[in-house]
Amino acid sequence: MDSIEIEIKEMDALYFDKEYASYHPSNNEILQKDIHEYQHFKNVIACFYNYTNDMKVEIQRIKTHFESLKPEQRNNLIMNYQERIKKLDYCVKKNAHFCFLIVAAYVDMFPEMDLSQVTYVSDLPYFHHVQHGDIAKLRITLKQFYRDWSIQGQAERDQSYKLIIDQLQSYYPDARTKDVKYQVLLPGAGLGRLVFELASRGFAAQGNEFSYFMLLSSHFIINLTQKKEQYQLYPFANNFCNRLRYENDQFELVKVPDVAPAEVLTENDEMSFVAGEFITVYHQAKYFNFWDSVITCFFIDTANNVLDYIDTIYEILKPKGCWINFGPLEYHFANQFSETSIELSFEDLKHYIKQKGFEIQFEQVQESTYNHSKLDQKYLKYNCIFFMAVKK
Ligand SMILES: C[S@@+](CC[C@H](N)C(=O)[O-])C[C@H]1O[C@@H](n2cnc3c(N)ncnc32)[C@H](O)[C@@H]1O
Repeated sequence: MDSIEIEIKEMDALYFDKEYASYHPSNNEILQKDIHEYQHFKNVIACFYNYTNDMKVEIQRIKTHFESLKPEQRNNLIMNYQERIKKLDYCVKKNAHFCFLIVAAYVDMFPEMDLSQVTYVSDLPYFHHVQHGDIAKLRITLKQFYRDWSIQGQAERDQSYKLIIDQLQSYYPDARTKDVKYQVLLPGAGLGRLVFELASRGFAAQGNEFSYFMLLSSHFIINLTQKKEQYQLYPFANNFCNRLRYENDQFELVKVPDVAPAEVLTENDEMSFVAGEFITVYHQAKYFNFWDSVITCFFIDTANNVLDYIDTIYEILKPKGCWINFGPLEYHFANQFSETSIELSFEDLKHYIKQKGFEIQFEQVQESTYNHSKLDQKYLKYNCIFFMAVKK
């Protein structure tokens, strides 16, 4: 990181490049129809623009605490805190630029902010639309780029995506050569890497997502990125804890994408994304008995009622269609008192799946991390359930 100053200048010079704004048409008109949805969308966009300002608060906190050290304590550290904060500042600028590019097309959504005088990403005004919970979601989204679209994420992808791909290919071995492609649905597709992997192997793969953080980010990396390793980010820069060292751990550089879909997919490949809540979008007669496969990866425990997900998966699969699942049962709503949360063990789920009319063809437990950098001292592993169930 010797060339910090120069790199920052080069990066800032990219700001407000109107070319980015012309990449994709604004969906404003569609969203205006639903004011609540529009406001939510606007909040998410604002969160991307506000990355630097949110991080400034964080950096100030760290600075203040370091300044409280006694001089002899401060002077006996390998990296003095100003240097550490300077590095963090650099990483934040890089991340802010990346965040800006993802939502660059939406600057017109904020006429009240008068952005016409802004020259640098770091000078963006404070966006008051940002909600506290969204800041955390954006930081998770940056880590999700590591999982799905970096070379370092390959090891983690091999723990889950590879097993799923192998299983689907062995169930449908003629996928590459078949005239009419197998239709595969991936609810909760995140940043879409698995959707891309299946599309590039001859499946007609459709991802489904309801998070704007994921939808905007996957659109950016899949549709608007031209080449491998086009962008650089530092997804772990704000994590000061559990560090063996700084240079390559906290300040681990991630280049994305490790593979550019634009360079790999051909006209024959079929890949799509549908925005919306899984059950609302797919529990409709037109999708009943439609899909050859449904793939759920780290998804089924996102439900208020996991049995509703299973019912929908059963309805929409064709007879003999397969459901492949990989993931834990963390039940995302378990600690939210205002939300319904049905928390069942796998034993119970298995019983329900069989009663429903599936045949479980295999099941096994596989260890997997999630959004984890190997350089982090903290290591959380899930004993994931990996199974394939076929609709009778
Ligand atoms: C834990 S992440 C898994 C993402 C991806 N499958 C992976 O393995 O990296 C769960 C994803 O499901 C999405 N999600 C949660 N509930 C959903 C629902 N009801 N409909 C559509 N997407 C949903 C979330 O936005 C999130 O991106």
